[in-house]
Amino acid sequence: MKLLVTGGAGFIGSNFIRYWSGQHPDDKILNIDNLTYAGNIANLADLENQNYSFIEENICNKTAIDKIFTDFQPEIVVHFAAETHVDRSLENPSLFIKTNILGTYNLLEASLKNKIKRFHHISTDEVFGSLDIGDDKKFRETSPYGPSSPYSASKAASDHLVRSYAESYDLPISITNCSNNFGPYQYPEKFLPRIITNLIEDKNIPVYGDGKNVRDWLYVEDHCRAIEMILLNDKTIGKTYCVGGNQNDISNLDITKMVLDSFGLDDSKIEFIADRPGHDRKYAVDWSLINKDLGWEPKHNTAEWLEETIKWYRDNSDWWQKLKIEAENFYAKK
Ligand code: NAD
Ligand code: DAU
Repeated sequence: MKLLVTGGAGFIGSNFIRYWSGQHPDDKILNIDNLTYAGNIANLADLENQNYSFIEENICNKTAIDKIFTDFQPEIVVHFAAETHVDRSLENPSLFIKTNILGTYNLLEASLKNKIKRFHHISTDEVFGSLDIGDDKKFRETSPYGPSSPYSASKAASDHLVRSYAESYDLPISITNCSNNFGPYQYPEKFLPRIITNLIEDKNIPVYGDGKNVRDWLYVEDHCRAIEMILLNDKTIGKTYCVGGNQNDISNLDITKMVLDSFGLDDSKIEFIADRPGHDRKYAVDWSLINKDLGWEPKHNTAEWLEETIKWYRDNSDWWQKLKIEAENFYAKK
């Protein structure tokens, strides 16, 4: 099989390529990524597979994308490439609109022209807006859209565009809306790698607002396996699946305390700082549909794999130290 993966030098994309290559070593994978601040070719430095190749290109460059599709003739497109950080979308929405909406449009057009067998769009639970703390409701495939940030609004727009290509032109699509991923190779601007690397450097932990916001943590390999199961089953064409973790009611303060415990530190490292504007209170995902249709469930226990993730950051300071400087420069300038 031939897979064109976009954004494969980022966090989830690189984990996906490593995972897919391990499971299907004979498949050809072409990674298209323009290496933004979040894209890092070193994320795949350990990958030894003759069937893997990389082209540095921007998905907004329609002519270049068309040529790549014509030359490579992919059967499957797995679309991760995006601007992904909510805080950055508040500073520079235009880049999010370009990459997440226009970039997706270019890929849909090229996919249609080249009659691909599947376009899988990676989306987020943030498109559904926010749940209330204390309410045990969860997001599901039928939840109404209500994005709060320019990031989630741009992802919502891209979801609608992808679905419109299925309805209008019969493009064989599927979509996943997943919760907060964690694991190795996550850029240290995001909450968990930010606080883990802060503690390794003996710094404080910046917690937005009152820290009571709730997130649903999904270990990245579980997410990759969900995408694999969807791609390998033709019955999922045209469908959307919500994907989440197995302990989905952890507040930012609770997960911070789990990380502090692992370092043998107390709460004095927590520094409450100004809240993020429009900060969604709670995300929680009901993954019963993908469980019913495909038998998927998250296999990685959050607490156990948080510990593994902390160990990974402790063992791989060469990977994150330079990135951390750029990430903290962004926060300092905000
Ligand atoms: P990331 O920020 O780590 O990586 C994004 C990658 O896309 C980078 O390698 C970057 O260079 C590339 N990219 C950005 N703009 C591009 C462009 N114009 N052309 C080509 N490549 C470009 O992101 P991530 O956390 O791995 O997220 C991947 C996907 O999953 C995104 O679509 C995101 O919306 C979605 N998602 C992420 C999470 C999460 O918790 N990280 C949760 C739900 C959904
Ligand atoms: O839910 C899926 C989404 O998860 C993805 O679509 C996004 O791409 C991804 O970035 C993530 O969005 P969040 O905004 O939830 O993730 P972030 O890591 O930025 O923040 C997690 C929580 O921690 C959130 O409530 C904000 C808070 N936070 C974050 C940072 C960076 C802090 O309290 N302090 C911080 O320094």
